[in-house]
Amino acid sequence: MNLDLVNEIKSDVCVEFLTKETLKKHKQKKLLEKAGFEAAQDTLCFLHEKGILACGVEALESDCIRSAASQAIKALKSSKNESASFPVDAKNLEAVVEGVILGGYDYNRYKSESKEATLQDIYLTCKDIKKLSKAFEEAVIIAESTCFTRDIVNTTPEDLHPASFAEIAKELARENKLTCNVLGEDDLRKEKMESMLAVGRASRHESQLIHLAYKPKKAKKIISLVGKGLTYDSGGLSLKPATSMVTMKMDKAGACAVLGMIKAASELKLDVEIHAFIGAVENMIGGDAYKPDDVLVTRSKKTVEVRNTDAEGRLVLCDVLDYAQDKVKADYIFDFATLTGACMVALGQYTTGVMGHSNKLKHDLFTAADKSGELIGALPFNRHLKKLLKSEIADLSNVASKPYGGAITAGLFLDNFIKDENKEKWLHFDIAGSAYTESPWDCNVYGATGAGVRLISSFLKELK
Ligand code: BES
Ligand code: ZN
Ligand code: ZN
Repeated sequence: MNLDLVNEIKSDVCVEFLTKETLKKHKQKKLLEKAGFEAAQDTLCFLHEKGILACGVEALESDCIRSAASQAIKALKSSKNESASFPVDAKNLEAVVEGVILGGYDYNRYKSESKEATLQDIYLTCKDIKKLSKAFEEAVIIAESTCFTRDIVNTTPEDLHPASFAEIAKELARENKLTCNVLGEDDLRKEKMESMLAVGRASRHESQLIHLAYKPKKAKKIISLVGKGLTYDSGGLSLKPATSMVTMKMDKAGACAVLGMIKAASELKLDVEIHAFIGAVENMIGGDAYKPDDVLVTRSKKTVEVRNTDAEGRLVLCDVLDYAQDKVKADYIFDFATLTGACMVALGQYTTGVMGHSNKLKHDLFTAADKSGELIGALPFNRHLKKLLKSEIADLSNVASKPYGGAITAGLFLDNFIKDENKEKWLHFDIAGSAYTESPWDCNVYGATGAGVRLISSFLKELK
């Protein structure tokens, strides 16, 4: 499918976004009303003979347009039209691009027959393409990087394990002129990353630490992005119940998001130096699996009592965060992880949980979220919850002693591995709910959403 920005074009179908108000003044008002169209958000009405696809929106705002454009593209893809056009302006351009690319995304690698859509060409029409062309190109890069992230997350654990993850990173590095360094288990042992190694010990796939870097000449800032890359999370010996295990291929979504972010930033040619650190590990069971009751010595030398092998993400991240802080003196350190089911309980499935010490930094991310169309919500740290991670036999326990506030106690576990000089530079993003969906919402379709990519691209674009 081709997507182009043009001045004017004759296409099979012309998409129109209509509110209840603008419907009243529409040329085809009578026909549309006869068809029962009332311009309710996300409803559609095809007037085939007129070459019009009317899309209802609550208001002419980004969130409404993005969602409506997603509905429109799905309907167009299952129609027999070859071309369609969407009117755009400076205000709705990004939302339409996201709706078309992200709402029109489908993943059919494992289907024996893929249905070819008749739809070939999509045009975004506007009066002055010169004015909008840069914004158009940027929006396309960000949306396509989000799809890149989705593709990796959606890949099954047999095809996407730590070694094949490293291959994808290397290929991205080749294509986008990034540096890429991969550490296998021998290297991880030399780095004394015994916590990360323990989690992957029962897997037949060797754990990998992947470090990608994008280094433009005049970088204004340096940022380290750390991703949880559990290519499968069975829970380990604290085995997950059968129904909770399904979808756990998505436990690598943090790592995949970080790849999508560095891809977008390098293609946008941003003046920001970016380091992506990925801990790619598979959490399995077996005679050599790590166990509840083990005490692990982390890279930072802090000891951790394992009380639940399903709280494995933090055991990988604590070593990768420690390594990242030693390797790069960054201005910002962000980690992304499908870390806790508790985050979904706290915020719902659609919202990423954000934790950290700097209110200013959190505020900047709220601004970025608003622009990007992603949803984020802050979960507050406090010293009472911090005490729940106390262990009788080690420096800390990998799970809290009380069941409430699990997303925050997981964040506080990671906080133990953030060096004092970095406390204000660090944010933790729990994308357990937002990274994957089994029913479509907004511009998300079944499967991975690519959560984090649009958010961080928007943050990086505004960095001074
Ligand atoms: N990968 C899971 C968290 C998760 C759950 C992500 C559901 C997406 C959907 C994580 O490793 C995990 O199992 N966390 C445990 C922590 C608990 C043992 C303290 C959880 O959330 O139950
Ligand atoms: Zn787990
Ligand atoms: Zn996990």
